[in-house]
Amino acid sequence: MSWPATILTLYPEMFPGPLGASLAGRAMRDGIWSLDTVQIRDFATDKHRSVDDTPAGGGAGMVMRADVLGTAVDHVLAKAPDAPLLAMTPRGQPLTQDLVRTLAAGPGVSILCGRFEGIDERLFEARPIVPVSIGDYVLSGGEMAAMTLLDACVRLLPGVMGAASSGEEESFETGLLEYPHYTRPVTWEGRTIPEVLRSGDHAKIAQWRAERARADTRSRRPDLIARHGDARRPSPSGARHED
Ligand code: ADE
Repeated sequence: MSWPATILTLYPEMFPGPLGASLAGRAMRDGIWSLDTVQIRDFATDKHRSVDDTPAGGGAGMVMRADVLGTAVDHVLAKAPDAPLLAMTPRGQPLTQDLVRTLAAGPGVSILCGRFEGIDERLFEARPIVPVSIGDYVLSGGEMAAMTLLDACVRLLPGVMGAASSGEEESFETGLLEYPHYTRPVTWEGRTIPEVLRSGDHAKIAQWRAERARADTRSRRPDLIARHGDARRPSPSGARHED
């Protein structure tokens, strides 16, 4: 069964964009997932088709109107009643691999893409919308964030990734960053692939990878170590490593 994604946006021409190429594009052509866009402006009610207005209380920029978005959201909720409805906004909960896994295992997703300074807060009170952020920086709109989320979900859909196991060891699946990768040539600019990776000793390789994953996570992403602890899973060699 196809995994349907519905995007509410002021810029439907941005889609599928990069999602039409490579892995996600092939999966779409194979019918593994589908993409539908809904133009928010089609739900405006005045002759100027306005979707935004000045912020209550003053300040810079414009705010997306709750009344226009409410009607647009109701249209999508009626069309895709089972799909969770997300809104991409820097004020949202962080997008994580756990959330990506949950969404990919579900019936599809609907995504509202914010623009301007933000969305009238009453929309979030009145409709079952989960605000999601892809990181602590501000994009000019939610469309690229929605594409990021969709790309992360689509690659997990059954039949999309070549080897079924290729996702199991990657970054965040164990709560840590993944170990580093190397390939031929064995020596490049005087740098040689670590000896252990050429040894053929699979237990040693697994142990080296687990140690590098932990060390790199500790130095680059101490927040992940604090969140997950050091040994959410035993290392592939079966040994637990206490630092
Ligand atoms: N829209 C603007 N910035 C965003 C972010 N960081 N995440 C999700 N949507 C956004």
